[in-house]
Amino acid sequence: MDRIRIVGGRPLNGTIPIGGAKNAALPLMIAGLLTRETVTLHNVPRLSDVRQLMRILGNHGVDAAISGKRAGQAEDAGDTITLSARDIVDSTAPYELVSKMRASFWVIAPLLARMGEARVSLPGGCAIGTRPVDLLLMALERLGASIEIEGGYVVAKAAKGLRGGEIFFPKVTVGGTHTALMAATLARGTTVIDNAAQEPEVTDLALCLTKMGAKISGAGTARIVVEGVERLDGAHHAVLPDRIETGTYAMAVAMTGGDILLQGARADLLQSAFDVLRQVGAEVTETNEGVRVRRNGGGIRPVDVTTAPFPGFPTDLQAQFMALMTMADGTSRIRETIFENRFMHVQELARLGAQIRLEGDTAIIEGRPVLTGAPVMATDLRASVSLVIGGLAAEGETMVHRVYHLDRGFEALEKKLVRCGAEIERLGGDG
Ligand code: UD1
Repeated sequence: MDRIRIVGGRPLNGTIPIGGAKNAALPLMIAGLLTRETVTLHNVPRLSDVRQLMRILGNHGVDAAISGKRAGQAEDAGDTITLSARDIVDSTAPYELVSKMRASFWVIAPLLARMGEARVSLPGGCAIGTRPVDLLLMALERLGASIEIEGGYVVAKAAKGLRGGEIFFPKVTVGGTHTALMAATLARGTTVIDNAAQEPEVTDLALCLTKMGAKISGAGTARIVVEGVERLDGAHHAVLPDRIETGTYAMAVAMTGGDILLQGARADLLQSAFDVLRQVGAEVTETNEGVRVRRNGGGIRPVDVTTAPFPGFPTDLQAQFMALMTMADGTSRIRETIFENRFMHVQELARLGAQIRLEGDTAIIEGRPVLTGAPVMATDLRASVSLVIGGLAAEGETMVHRVYHLDRGFEALEKKLVRCGAEIERLGGDG
């Protein structure tokens, strides 16, 4: 297994290109199952989760291909992927595939909508607390599906097709909203989704589905209305920029100091985190090319944060923000309200000398003037990148083990950071 070696203490200066959002690319790829026609996605990030989902879709009979590079294309441009689900040959998503990535469970919606039947293994994915699928299944039931659990598989049936219905989510769920939205596009009649997730990735999915011929209004608000159509067409769609990758590098430069242009980033996708970074003492400015983040001189001010659904502070930036707060001039509190048990990075950050104590859903961080490099272990996708951020700011050498977690969500991480003056390299083999 690869490791990442970092020698910290250098400021970050330069340009970091921001890729397409993983959390938008995955549902968009799954939406390709809804049509017999070809869906072409541009700006798809090169990530192991994307490759894994291509394998899963291939198993259902989707022809999924990555187009070659075009002349004049920038080195950092994302992939173009074509998906053609002319004939779905298998409506079962097996444990071996689904257990590796939680989002792949969402194939249940298009399979059910198109085939009237789906058999999907209960999911795996990041080890961040119990992540049930009860609300996803409730939504499908509201659209007329019958659901049974057999031998670790969810068996969903709607022999006569799905019909529109009223879905109310008692808790905001991104996956639940994606699932309901996809299923409703091909259901007979009108579906109303209340307390829908308002995340930009939901809006991006709705935009692509609309290009495919779906009739959707209200995406990006708490109430989405879908008029079912008989069939969907193909479409071309460019994945929106990754706000979590954006926020991650913004946190990194706020911690190390320096001046970074996050090229292609969209500030409107990340207002809450940028507001927090300004309070911390970083300068954040929108430019024609993206978002520029600077911190030159001045300390890191402690700020309290509570994670919340969009437009609140994203849980997917909680670990990175905690890394930043470990070097603040005082005490900060971070409350995690989306996932229980999403604090595995705490004990690893402590190995760098961070002072963090947990009280229920809240972490209390006593900032320190210096961290010191140490061997640390990545535990999940966002936690692992918080260790990289900590390592970039710590004095001396940090070795991050189990970096395959990083490859699920961060494209060319070392390359992007090296170009900005970081001393970071990937080493083969876990020695
Ligand atoms: C998505 C994101 C993930 C992000 C999360 C919250 C992708 C691929 N993943 O995950 O990066 O951290 O949104 O922004 O887009 N819940 C239930 N029952 C359900 C479904 C969810 O109780 O049936 C709970 C979860 O346990 C959690 C909360 O609802 O406490 C929110 O989860 P959800 O928004 O569904 O997360 P994901 O869609 O899995």
